[in-house]
Amino acid sequence: MPALELPSYLTDRSAVPLEIIQYPHPILRHKSRPLQRVDAELRRMVREMFDLMYEARGIGLAGNQVGLPYRLFVTNLTADAQQTEHERVFINPVLSKPKGLAEAEEGCLSLPGLYAQVRRPERVTIAAYNLAGEEVTLELDDLPARVVQHETDHLDGVLFIDRLSESALAELREPLDEFEIEFQQHRQQGAIPDDQRIASHVAELERLRT
Ligand code: CO
Repeated sequence: MPALELPSYLTDRSAVPLEIIQYPHPILRHKSRPLQRVDAELRRMVREMFDLMYEARGIGLAGNQVGLPYRLFVTNLTADAQQTEHERVFINPVLSKPKGLAEAEEGCLSLPGLYAQVRRPERVTIAAYNLAGEEVTLELDDLPARVVQHETDHLDGVLFIDRLSESALAELREPLDEFEIEFQQHRQQGAIPDDQRIASHVAELERLRT
């Protein structure tokens, strides 16, 4: 196998920039496993996640959205790369104490251009580790509560479109079909591996860190 074809986990990852993965790539349906450790390479990948998130003008990004099958996500509710004091990293997050119900518009960097009203608990408690390895517990409401629920869903392979009523989902059928057609075209062009190859790549990444 020529060196350039080596799977990225066998090469220097700095040579393999992360990219945001779009629906309906199967890794978006993967249930991610907890991380066992935080190391320099993970910190570098987290930095790359923030950069990709800002580039796409997002406020949250989950590991599997950049091909990393780990239970972690990043947020910055300001979407402003200058406001680094608002950057948060959530590793192995656990949600509890959902309260109330609220509906608001959501979008997703893996479904660019698609928006819908999503109903979720209005308040939630989240416990997670940060990059320093400290456990942090936060009681959140409104937008912060919505974002951590949306991102934790990603770690379980759930997308916001899964939380829509059948009729609301039907309204998005056309753009969703377009995403699916584009995905198949990319696959035919060889830009996206087949399901089996993706699964073995994911298993290898899991073996390294979970
Ligand atoms: Co999303």
